[in-house]
Amino acid sequence: MEKEKFYITTAIAYTSRKPHIGNSYEIVMSDAIARYKRLQGYDVFFQTGTDEHGQKIEEIAKASGVTPQQHVDKVAGEIRNICDLLKITYDNFIRTTDKSHERCVQKIFKKLYDQGDIYKSEYEGMYCTPCESFWTESQLVDGKCPDCGREVKPAREEAYFFRISKYQKQLEEYIESNSGFICPESRKKEMINNFIKPGLQDLCVSRTSFKWGIPVDFDPKHVIYVWIDALSNYATGIGYDPDGPSETYKKYWPADVHVVGKDIMRFHTIYWPIMLMALGEPLPKKVFGHQWLLFGTDKMSKSRGNVIYADDLVELFGVDAVRYYLLAEMPYTSDGSITYENMIERYNSDLANTLGNLVNRTVAMTNKYFDGGIMSPRADEPLDAELKTLAVDTVKKVDELLADYRISDALEAIFALAKRCNKYIDETTPWVLAKSEEGRGRLGTVLYNLLESIRFLGVLLQPFMPDTAKSVFDQLNTDVTGYDTILSFGNLKIGSVVGKAVPLFGRIDPEEMFKRIDERMQSAEKEVEQDKEKIEGVQIGIEDFSKIKLKVAEIKDCEKVKKAKKLLKLTLDDGSGVPRTVASGIAKWYAPEDLIGRKVIVVSNLKPATLCGVESCGMILAADCAEDDVRVVFVDDMPNGAGIR
Ligand code: MSP
Repeated sequence: MEKEKFYITTAIAYTSRKPHIGNSYEIVMSDAIARYKRLQGYDVFFQTGTDEHGQKIEEIAKASGVTPQQHVDKVAGEIRNICDLLKITYDNFIRTTDKSHERCVQKIFKKLYDQGDIYKSEYEGMYCTPCESFWTESQLVDGKCPDCGREVKPAREEAYFFRISKYQKQLEEYIESNSGFICPESRKKEMINNFIKPGLQDLCVSRTSFKWGIPVDFDPKHVIYVWIDALSNYATGIGYDPDGPSETYKKYWPADVHVVGKDIMRFHTIYWPIMLMALGEPLPKKVFGHQWLLFGTDKMSKSRGNVIYADDLVELFGVDAVRYYLLAEMPYTSDGSITYENMIERYNSDLANTLGNLVNRTVAMTNKYFDGGIMSPRADEPLDAELKTLAVDTVKKVDELLADYRISDALEAIFALAKRCNKYIDETTPWVLAKSEEGRGRLGTVLYNLLESIRFLGVLLQPFMPDTAKSVFDQLNTDVTGYDTILSFGNLKIGSVVGKAVPLFGRIDPEEMFKRIDERMQSAEKEVEQDKEKIEGVQIGIEDFSKIKLKVAEIKDCEKVKKAKKLLKLTLDDGSGVPRTVASGIAKWYAPEDLIGRKVIVVSNLKPATLCGVESCGMILAADCAEDDVRVVFVDDMPNGAGIR
């Protein structure tokens, strides 16, 4: 029988900088779901990746002195490393700078333009650079960007618009008739009441103010709005093409679930479905919006110095403990919180005590009392029946909870079984049973029930803590690990011999751990300083600044330098009575005749240098306005020779 398909995606992370542990949450969550579905026999395709275009990335790259491509290559590499470190079993890692994706996004844009869903007009409004979004005055909150709360500035540009408004009714109908499409329910209400009901406005889908994006191929001074580019990844990554989709696309589309953070639900439940409607493609079955992971009660941010990275955590606690903590700590409808105290506590109580001790004690007792042999169980006592029922019921419960993406509840159910097993040990007192010959028969049954329950735990934990599950199976020395083997109790083979007892999680000494954490924090603080220096420059005192002599100077003459395409030779009157020659790399942006008569600021005490045969005595000031846009600072109404301080 052909397996049922399941296509799951995460949001694609921005490559502005290395992502923190909060960003990694949904990747781990989606990985757990993907693994669970595979365990259940689905044919799963799991896609994650990186969102690599946009003005912010262009600016960060410039501040770091590298090209945008170099910058995104580095960060995408870091993100991939984090995925590998966290044992993410993605089937495809898409990058929006992949040539095949870029080409396909251009085709999507063109198709929508040709059919009249995208049209050219002019935009006038307030622009938020970090969010790359235009807003009308009425959409601003206290005069600031409604999404991120930062300053906006007036902007006007020729732009392409997407006729979102045309699809409003169709979208409403889809949401209405597919009750599980927006999940959880609270997010659905938010989308409908805050965004859809007030009326959808056409969306500005191109930009001309920067270059680092996918160009509109039939009008290349425009780049395609980063969200149109980014959202398309879900389809292009599996081979969508307006000219004819691939076999993979035909097999896996529509997505069964897009897992995204609550902050970007709007893009996924409004813009993306409308894009698909316009393209005539089926809509995803579900968009699941998860909560945020906070540091204590604060948002994580590098400048606040409270950012936690996956690689640091993995080094401190180990990969499965990090996966467990993230998944167990995030509630379904409120934000989760990460603190080192809480992590240490959960590690010691849940992993070392509840799970680790259970496995260790049981395997050790089997070795001690029966030389590792797994005995045949005898007739049930009421306690046994209760444990067996709980084990089988736990499978059903986990199944139901995961169908609703209630991950932390599912883990809680699994750990409730582990706790019940520990209680069963206390109730049955195997060490007492071991003392008498008649007790040994009962002891064999007790240990069988425990070992089999531990096997249940191993199977159920595979999607969440894959290394731990493997170690459990090694200790049980079993290869009976499939999902169908936990639909009934008693599939652990009688007569086989368990392995050696190996502690799954050694207890953490909090004092010792905090010492290690402090060391890491100090080096992280240093890194923040270095980053700041990169962007804002090294701090200098006024005495340093006063060493630089700046003067107003008039350009009396200007010509191209024959040997150097980039250079112009300027002759300046800086008020000293002696003409000053300066070579400046601005030939690409200015014709010599446009500069004669203009006044500029010159650094007059710069050491002379010879550039392509021209002795340059100073430097004029200019602004880097965009990647390929340099503008000279003109001060035409100032007197020649005036000092600037
Ligand atoms: N690039 C966009 C997504 C485009 S999808 C077509 C983006 N990137 S992001 O890097 O800012 O965020 C990636 C994911 O991480 C988003 O789903 C976002 O909601 C999520 N999170 C960001 N910070 C988070 C926490 N602190 N906690 C949990 N998830 C968080 O948005």
